[in-house]
Amino acid sequence: MRFSATDSADCSVLVTEVGTRDGFQVEPEFIPTASKADVLNALIDAGVRSFEATSFVSPRAIPQLADASQLMDMLTRRPGVRLSALVPNARGAERAAAAKVDMMICFVSASESHCQANLNKPIERALADFEEFSPIAEQYGIPVRGAIAVAFGCPFEGEVPVDSLLRIAGAYHERGVRHITLGDTTGMATPPVVERAVEALRSRFPDLQIALHFHNTRGVGLANVVVGLQLGIREFESSIAGLGGCPFAPGASGNICTEDLVYLLHESGYQTGIDLDKLCEVARGVETLLGRKLPGQVMKSGGRLRRFSLDGARRAVG
Ligand code: COA
Ligand code: ZN
Repeated sequence: MRFSATDSADCSVLVTEVGTRDGFQVEPEFIPTASKADVLNALIDAGVRSFEATSFVSPRAIPQLADASQLMDMLTRRPGVRLSALVPNARGAERAAAAKVDMMICFVSASESHCQANLNKPIERALADFEEFSPIAEQYGIPVRGAIAVAFGCPFEGEVPVDSLLRIAGAYHERGVRHITLGDTTGMATPPVVERAVEALRSRFPDLQIALHFHNTRGVGLANVVVGLQLGIREFESSIAGLGGCPFAPGASGNICTEDLVYLLHESGYQTGIDLDKLCEVARGVETLLGRKLPGQVMKSGGRLRRFSLDGARRAVG
């Protein structure tokens, strides 16, 4: 089995940073808008080109992201940088359009229980909300992507049938959406579960582009990325320093970590356009901002060829 990229046309991977949305939404303290903007601007400087920057959801549901409009105003817009945001309904779409997001992301859960907890409505009504808000995006010329939460398992219901994914992807597809993200909200994905879902979606909807969003809750996040790469997936979502979680899913913890993901990709011959050293600096800055150690590993260890001086190193003298 091959693990490294061989075909140069196929070795470019898009890394979408979701830390300021998926990560900051679960922080116990409200992070000042200017600090959020500093993190995003530093990530842009490090070469990240795609972001899920914030959410235009109810500020009562997610008070940590109540500043979505102000945040969007503070970000440096650069050509080639995509600033997307989560949108649950028409009210969110109007707010996101006014804030000039580059892409709206609709999100519907693959299980009824999580949909109820996250959006306060059944799947059918969440899809109806999407029907209502997608013309707003169209009117403003803003592309829409469809995300499916708890796509690989639900903390309330357990196994998620592939049929649930097909039903939601079908509703997105019917409305012209050709990019979907499969979200592993509480880290229940494993290599065979990922393979089954991606293959089922591809055989039903061959023109669908799929991105994968993993959490490292059970330590297999990057193993799932390797499976995704082998299946030909070329977009992954991750959080700087391994931030992340969902307030409406018990047991949710950090996303796969952006700098660890970029390390894996570069070491496997894939290109991301991201400067890993700068990324690690941003990750350490986020630790300082939040005042605690975060799960990212490469920001602590450095790259595999980092060398230490033998002088002064501890020796096992018998
Ligand atoms: N932006 C701002 N305010 C919004 C809003 C939006 N997108 N959607 C609804 N609201 C406001 C309404 O205006 C209303 O305000 P009012 O009481 O002052 O009149 C209030 O919220 C309730 O509206 P309603 O439509 O009844 O919403 P709800 O209480 O049933 O909640 C959602 C539904 C979808 C808005 C809410 O569950 C939500 O925002 N969920 C997102 C959760 C999330 O982001 N999870 C993490 C990502 S996986
Ligand atoms: Zn997530």
